[in-house]
Amino acid sequence: MKLFLDTANVEQVAEIAQWGVLDGVTTNPSLVAKEGKDFKETVLAMCTHVPNVSAQVTATDFDGMKAQADEYSGWHKHVVVKVPMTVEGLKTLSYCKKKGIRTNTTLVFSVNQAILAAKAGATIISPFIGRIDDLGQDGMDLIAEIMQAWNNYNFDTEVLVASTRHPRHIADAAQLGAHICTIPYSVFTKLPMHILTDKGLDQFQKDWELVRKKK
Ligand code: E4P
Repeated sequence: MKLFLDTANVEQVAEIAQWGVLDGVTTNPSLVAKEGKDFKETVLAMCTHVPNVSAQVTATDFDGMKAQADEYSGWHKHVVVKVPMTVEGLKTLSYCKKKGIRTNTTLVFSVNQAILAAKAGATIISPFIGRIDDLGQDGMDLIAEIMQAWNNYNFDTEVLVASTRHPRHIADAAQLGAHICTIPYSVFTKLPMHILTDKGLDQFQKDWELVRKKK
C-alpha cells in the first residue's frame, strides 16, 4: 500500500519523507490557496522529496485542461496531473494516456465514475470518503464497491482513498486492498502513536536505569 501526504506544505512533506514511508503527495487548489505560495515552486520542491506529486488542473474545458496537463507534466517527471471527474476530464484523461502523462482523477463519488475514469486511462482514481461521511453516509462503502468491481475486471488504474479524516480510515482502506491512501499531516503524525508503545518504552527506560545504577 502506498501512503501519500495530502498537503501543499513543503515542510510537512520534507518531514514525513524522512520517515522512509512516503510515496507521494496530493495537492489541490484549496490546499495551495491555504499555503499562499507559488504553485509551480511548491510542486517542484515536493518533487525533490517524493516520486509522485499530484498537481490539479484549474481549467474546466478540454482544451484548457489539455494545455495545463502538457505544461505541468513538463515541469518534472514526478508530476501526476490531477483532473476532475467530468466529461471534459474524461477526454483529458484519454489524451494524457495517449501522451504517456500520468493522471489522478479527483472528486470521484460513485463506482460508475470510477469505471469511466479507469476506462479513459486514468493512472489513479481518487474517491473522497470523508466528504461522503460528512453527509452521514459511510464513505468506506464506496471503496468496498470499487475494489469489488476492480476484482471483477483487470483495471490497471490504482484506487487512492482520499479525504481521509482519521487513522481508522487508513487501516480500513488497507483491509479492502486499496492501492493508495492520501492522508492529511494531522492524521499522518498520529499513525506511529500508540499509548501502549509509550507506556512500554517508559517502563523499559525506568528498568534500564535500575540496571545502570547497579553497575
Ligand atoms: C485528495 O486528493 C484531496 O486533496 C483531499 O483528500 C480532499 O480532502 P478533503 O475532503 O478533506 O478536502
